[in-house]
Amino acid sequence: MKSGFLEKLVARLDRVVPGEVQQLVTRLIHEKGFLEKVFEALHEGVIILDPKGVVGFLNLAACQFFGLDPAQATGKFISTQIRGLDWAALGKPGRTISRDLEVFYPENRYLNFYLAPIDGVEEEHEPLGYVMLVRDLTTTRAEAEKNLESERLNALTLLAAGVAHEIGNPLNSLDIHLQLLGRKLRKLESAERKPLEENLATARQEIQRLDLILKQFLNAVRPTVPHRERQDLHVLLHDTLRLLEPELESRSVAVELDLAESLPLAFIDPGQFQQVFYNLIRNAFQAIPAENGHITIRTRVSDFEYVISIEDNGTGISPEHMGALFEPYRTTKASGSGLGLLIVRRIIREHGGAIAIESEENQGTRVLINFPHTERPVRLLGAPDSVIDL
Ligand SMILES: Nc1ncnc2c1ncn2[C@@H]1O[C@H](COP(=O)(O)OP(=O)(O)OP(=O)(O)O)[C@@H](O)[C@H]1O
Ligand SMILES: [Mg+2]
Repeated sequence: MKSGFLEKLVARLDRVVPGEVQQLVTRLIHEKGFLEKVFEALHEGVIILDPKGVVGFLNLAACQFFGLDPAQATGKFISTQIRGLDWAALGKPGRTISRDLEVFYPENRYLNFYLAPIDGVEEEHEPLGYVMLVRDLTTTRAEAEKNLESERLNALTLLAAGVAHEIGNPLNSLDIHLQLLGRKLRKLESAERKPLEENLATARQEIQRLDLILKQFLNAVRPTVPHRERQDLHVLLHDTLRLLEPELESRSVAVELDLAESLPLAFIDPGQFQQVFYNLIRNAFQAIPAENGHITIRTRVSDFEYVISIEDNGTGISPEHMGALFEPYRTTKASGSGLGLLIVRRIIREHGGAIAIESEENQGTRVLINFPHTERPVRLLGAPDSVIDL
């Protein structure tokens, strides 16, 4: 339908002959239906209001954002339909407003709305009404939070690197002095020397242990670029289980493996993935309080991603704690660092994947990780028959 149809119609209303009316009304209905379809197809919410803030029209997206029923909301004051939106403070003639909103029902969303007056045909003071355009900012907000989190992690890394450096130097010097002491001890008589040498050996072992912990810690928190190679995830999984075997056996935890029959080689950083498995399996068995501990590890692969789940029948995670799982240094364990899950998530994200955790208190926890095949297969679509090869 050509634009300006309405204007033309209004201009020649006095000349419309009775026979033409039916045709014109059909065209009008058609135009209205067309516009409604356009509005309904928009991802943005559209609400048309009269000058007093009464809803005249709202599209599907607006209904979804605010959980409204169009039949009920039309004809009502906007303030009664969107609670917390004070029309008296918003609807000022001639003023355009842009504001952010957080909506909790039917879904927690961050919205931005833009309220603009619809000018009358004549230069009147009072606008014909207002149009409210609503955009969903939820994903952009999630993105911002992700950046904030990575900034936090960077700050943490810097701090950790600084502390590690400060501790590393005196450790080195301690080790050198102990070596010197050892040399002097050799000059003593055997009876006196033996117990002292034992003390010295223990002290040096402890220093080496501290040094190792420091190095591992730095490796864990330092952001890295994955050194990817073609790897069999099942081999990595078995290697990790072998590392953890003594701990698993000491607690008689049964590990059930439900592995995909054939898993194509993954293009991943093997060291990092071993760390992922290690942290997740260790979390699982640490959550198992006493007997009848059970851990199930599943691997699956689809056309475009790998899915791995690690499930335990341990203590589970309380709803209050669920929100803080990835916060650095948040731990419920006497000897935990509270960095394990944070590192796991960083590695999975660096591989383009995601982690999800489901848990029920006193029942257990399931951690799901998924990440894409790096070389995603593409499907070349067949050319339509009518296209002629040139
Ligand atoms: N499978 C699980 N079952 C129950 N609680 C879990 C599980 N996995 C993680 N948690 C909870 O999440 C917290 C954080 O885990 P995370 O691995 O980040 O740190 P940690 O295990 O406490 O310490 P670290 O892994 O550094 O030794 C844990 O302290 C624990 O409360
Ligand atoms: Mg842990």
